[in-house]
Amino acid sequence: MAFYSEDIIEEVRVSNDIVDVISEYIRLEKKGSNFFGLCPFHREKTPSFSVSPTKQIFNCFGCGKGGNVIQFIMNIENLDFPEAIKLLANRARITLPEDEDRETHKKNILKNKIIKINTEAARFFHNKLKDKTSQKKALLYLKERGIAPGTIVKFGIGYCSDEGDELFKYLSKAGYNEEIIVKSGLAIKSEKGGCYDRFRNRIIFPIFDVRGSVIGFGGRSIDSSGPKYLNSPESIVYNKRKNLYAMNFARTSGEKRVVVVEGYMDVISLHQNGISNAVASLGTALTVDQGRILKKYFEEVIISYDADTAGQAATVRGLDILNEIGCNVRVLLIPEGKDPDEFVNKYGGKAFQNLMEKTLSLVDYKIEILKKQHNTKTTDGKVEFFNSCAELLSKIDNRVERDMYIVKLAEEYNISRESFSQEVYKKIQPRQLIKQRPVNLKAASGNIGGKSVHDEEKIAYYERILLSLLSMDNNAYFAVKDKLENYEFTSENKEVANFAIDRLADNKGLVAAELLNFTDGELAGKFGRVMQEDCNCEDTRKAVLDIINKIELHRLDIRKQEIIKLLNSQMDEGDVEKLNQELKSIMIKTLLLKKGGEGNES
Ligand code: UTP
Ligand code: MN
Repeated sequence: MAFYSEDIIEEVRVSNDIVDVISEYIRLEKKGSNFFGLCPFHREKTPSFSVSPTKQIFNCFGCGKGGNVIQFIMNIENLDFPEAIKLLANRARITLPEDEDRETHKKNILKNKIIKINTEAARFFHNKLKDKTSQKKALLYLKERGIAPGTIVKFGIGYCSDEGDELFKYLSKAGYNEEIIVKSGLAIKSEKGGCYDRFRNRIIFPIFDVRGSVIGFGGRSIDSSGPKYLNSPESIVYNKRKNLYAMNFARTSGEKRVVVVEGYMDVISLHQNGISNAVASLGTALTVDQGRILKKYFEEVIISYDADTAGQAATVRGLDILNEIGCNVRVLLIPEGKDPDEFVNKYGGKAFQNLMEKTLSLVDYKIEILKKQHNTKTTDGKVEFFNSCAELLSKIDNRVERDMYIVKLAEEYNISRESFSQEVYKKIQPRQLIKQRPVNLKAASGNIGGKSVHDEEKIAYYERILLSLLSMDNNAYFAVKDKLENYEFTSENKEVANFAIDRLADNKGLVAAELLNFTDGELAGKFGRVMQEDCNCEDTRKAVLDIINKIELHRLDIRKQEIIKLLNSQMDEGDVEKLNQELKSIMIKTLLLKKGGEGNES
């Protein structure tokens, strides 16, 4: 739906008066402040279809259809959202930025051109290696690093000489103009005019995207001049945060696990030794985008970075990122502080595969790091070590898993399991304790039966009243701003709410019908009804405060029911204590809210 910008959509909506538009389809009659007519969406004899000129919305009491002018057109003309926008823009003589389309089209053409020029360059670099007279040292270097001829071909490895403008000349001759060669990053414009090649006297590794198109290059210096590796600059086709080296091969390896290493050479050596599910993040810490790609193709991600401090930090960051987006992550540690390339060249693929069976979990890995950071031979060191471990374990959501680590560590260091366990549980925030009982909570609400769904719906309904009221009286927002800051809307309303709150918080203004720009038919109908039927009050500010109060009371009540269920199930004494505390505070809050007090403490 984000096809057109928010502003354009709103401009189109505002430029099409809803009464005018609907009057083109059905006969409307004014009664009071609204217009009424026979609903075009269901068969009826007496009008239950109303249109509000002030709110710019329609709503049918009979069939529940409702929304703003956009949804009306979608429904009546049977169009999707962009089509409806087009029709209405046309009607109001607004030119849509179809140019944006043209922009994308132009971009795609440029992308294809750069990929083509890259492919040409890759071929040029690769052929240089076959060029017997000149490039002996490159072949020698590759041989010394143990790269087999078949691997050179598979990865399209090449070489560029130190002439300085060899490639530029070649590409120019092949018909590419200077501008595009510079855009590809293969050549750099010199200040004196003219161009020179980016890569000089380097082994060249073409970088492929998932589909195998050449999007950039990495160049390894073979004479220790300049930086060890030089890479293509970011370009319209090459974004290093969104790509993983060798993903095009690993993707089709048929493996469920993927090994993420740091560098070109690590990947190449691993593949050569039969580990065809290795990819490289190319020297940067893993990004969320890369994580998503990994998650898409594999069930488990094994990180195997250098053991140096930089590698260690990158590992932890990578693990956390992957963990956050829901990947199963493990860490592979390489003995003797080697990198995967060195290890596999020395001990072979089988030895590496053995390591792949001995990976560490995220928590185990972090514990390993803590072990290295503290001297557990001294009392002080040991205390600090266990303190840090308790901190770490307190963050584990899964209780069984957490308890397993507690037992394991207590046994390993021969300390009291109970007291260590207490330390861990002390660090768990009460709030977290509640959140981390998803299984129990689900069971509990399952017992309540249909009621929980009902509750959620009720809250969603209240939220719609709240948002509608706020859209009708923007100033009322400031009366409830604080309360809304930490409030989490139900998933059904979330998108609309985010949009609305952003607008209101930025003081940018919001009108009722605008709220519906981004809703689908059903939700638009629900909002339409609320706006027409439930928002006719004298004092909006007071109504808003009332409704927030209602929502809070309702939420407290739901939580109360949950706690009661939980307390009836089997629980630890510690947890019972916490839940009882919470129950008590819920009672107090409820009382305060019912008295109309603010109930500010949280
Ligand atoms: P490393 O320094 O670990 O290099 O950098 P490496 O992969 O072991 O390379 P060899 O074995 O010495 O040839 C890991 C990765 O970080 C990026 C490269 O992608 C490299 O593969 N890097 C490193 C750069 O981009 N530039 C540099 O100067 C160094
Ligand atoms: Mn290396």
